[in-house]
Amino acid sequence: MIDVEGLTKSYRKGTMVTEVLKGVTFRVSQGEFVAIMGPSGSGKSTLLNILGLLDQPDAGRYRLEGADLSGADDDTLSAARNRKIGFVFQQFHLLERASALRNVTLPLLYAESDSDDGTARAERALEAVGLSQRAHHLPSELSGGEQQRVAIARALINDPAVILADEPTGNLDARSGAEILDTFRRLADAGRTIVLVTHDRGVAERADRILVLEDGRITADETVGRPSRGSAARDGAAAVGPA
Ligand SMILES: Nc1ncnc2c1ncn2[C@@H]1O[C@H](COP(=O)(O)OP(=O)(O)OP(=O)(O)O)[C@@H](O)[C@H]1O
Ligand SMILES: [Mg+2]
Repeated sequence: MIDVEGLTKSYRKGTMVTEVLKGVTFRVSQGEFVAIMGPSGSGKSTLLNILGLLDQPDAGRYRLEGADLSGADDDTLSAARNRKIGFVFQQFHLLERASALRNVTLPLLYAESDSDDGTARAERALEAVGLSQRAHHLPSELSGGEQQRVAIARALINDPAVILADEPTGNLDARSGAEILDTFRRLADAGRTIVLVTHDRGVAERADRILVLEDGRITADETVGRPSRGSAARDGAAAVGPA
């Protein structure tokens, strides 16, 4: 599904160069729920933006569903982004004056979003996140967890192969955060591929697998409950406990 090899990315400010990614390599299979964990500033968002085709690496290869997107032109990248990727962020980014249903149709083309088919798709997406009963509520009439589930439904509307989520529980209390993680779990069990970025080990442990990003590289690749290798894997063994 996702296959990246040797991704590098640096930022330049005047003469100062910050090497953020120094050769990142991993694969994610369809239906896997993967967490990318690492300290603040380790490049998690940079990596997720590259996976989401919002940003390009300086070097390295990126294949998404078998298509090599390294060096693809802008039109190819934006088409792939719209058709294959759904984003969820820490901030929900909902339109305050639009219903949950309307918010979910926003990524559709204008004609589509007003059609019966667009509405039916939005209803199915809300159903997939357990919010059918809230379709006509405004964001201000929803809890934080419900608003984030609307954002997840919006990410699902184009039936993407992959959902990319950057600290999706960062603005939520523990209970609402757990609801969001349950939602991702159900989507993954239904075959959706999920890549979630977090600095929180408790959140990461709800995934099937944890990749640790440190100093620009993946330093550990653990199956949850069965740490495999490296120092981070040892830390993991110490931290693994009842969920
Ligand atoms: N557009 C940019 N221009 C210059 N430097 C940047 C830019 N974006 C990110 N950086 C730098 O790259 C490094 C990695 O940033 P990134 O946002 O990917 O980290 P992160 O792991 O997501 O951190 P956090 O957990 O705080 O969100 C940081 O040192 C940051 O200052
Ligand atoms: Mg970040």
